Amino acid sequence: MKTICIIGAGQIGSRHLQALALLKFKVKIFVFDVSNDTLQIAKQRYLEINQDDGMVEYTTDFSLMPKQVDIAIIATDANSRYEVINRLLESSKVKYIILEKMVFNDINCFEPTLQLFKKMKVSAYVNCTRRAQAIYQEIAKLLKGKKILFFEVHGNSINLGCNAIHYLDLFEFISEQKIVDLNIQFLNQGFSQSKRKGYLEFSGAILGCSNNGSQLLINDIDSQEERDAEIKIISEAGTIFVNETKKTAELLLKDNKWAKREVTFEIKFQSQLTDIVVEHLLSEGSCELTPFEDSINNHKILIEAFAEHLGQADKSKCLIT
Ligand SMILES: NC(=O)c1ccc[n+]([C@@H]2O[C@H](COP(=O)([O-])OP(=O)(O)OC[C@H]3O[C@@H](n4cnc5c(N)ncnc54)[C@H](O)[C@@H]3O)[C@@H](O)[C@H]2O)c1
Repeated sequence: MKTICIIGAGQIGSRHLQALALLKFKVKIFVFDVSNDTLQIAKQRYLEINQDDGMVEYTTDFSLMPKQVDIAIIATDANSRYEVINRLLESSKVKYIILEKMVFNDINCFEPTLQLFKKMKVSAYVNCTRRAQAIYQEIAKLLKGKKILFFEVHGNSINLGCNAIHYLDLFEFISEQKIVDLNIQFLNQGFSQSKRKGYLEFSGAILGCSNNGSQLLINDIDSQEERDAEIKIISEAGTIFVNETKKTAELLLKDNKWAKREVTFEIKFQSQLTDIVVEHLLSEGSCELTPFEDSINNHKILIEAFAEHLGQADKSKCLIT
């Protein structure tokens, strides 16, 4: 029987767990968190989906973690992730790791972790989920091989510190290009406190460009008024508008003689997605999420950009999660 571990069973960790409750085959699940209260909430959440949690072990004792793990999901906050990964790999043989974003908020942690994964033969992925959503897979297919001229995200309460990484990742997934430069001069001054205690948030605009000159804009409009989260993609193949709030998209494509095609779509919650990712990892040896190595550049440029915005002398760290 396959063994899956979740380390960090808070908001997102418990949603990963709920998805595991949907798996059609039996797995042994270990849920580790430093907080007993959190484990109790995670247990309740599992039971909401599946009344039989006989195969789930909830523990605050790390020594009870299994020595052979098929998939580990590391859903702690960013500050503890490096230590948790090292602790896990010191004691257990792990095949696949799913890492929450921001994977780390210290640039110095990426290279040693990459080397550790290579040494221990771990395939690691970052949980940037838009590329696992059907709507973005379809858009990527439609725009494959076509240059993206402009990619714009706007909305309010995007929370750039926490979420810009998702849009950089989506841009790279659709354009198949690497982001080489970020311009942060249009960020709003200063920072705010994140809803996750001890972490920082940023609003305003981030501009970016890719190695073939595609332009990227993520605009977190700092307004009290609720605004839909929208994405506009202008490409050689045509223009696509995605409204993530309304879950609608308009496609005006050259191949369709610019006729407007309207589609509605579903965005799967984490609690409906991790089971699919797990099934793919176990059956195919890979999944739709972003390979860790491919995500390093985006993490680094974001950490550096926010550190620069804060006027820090040390640009290798920034308290985002
Ligand atoms: N991919 C996504 O779309 C997405 C969505 C939400 C959150 N996240 C990310 O997931 C991470 C967690 O966010 P959250 O909202 O679940 O936070 P949270 O605070 O609710 O959960 C974090 C959990 O980790 C536990 N923890 C901390 N240090 C630990 C350690 N050393 N060992 C074991 N457990 C430890 C805490 O007790 C807590 O229960 C953040 O980095 C966040 O940005 C990603």
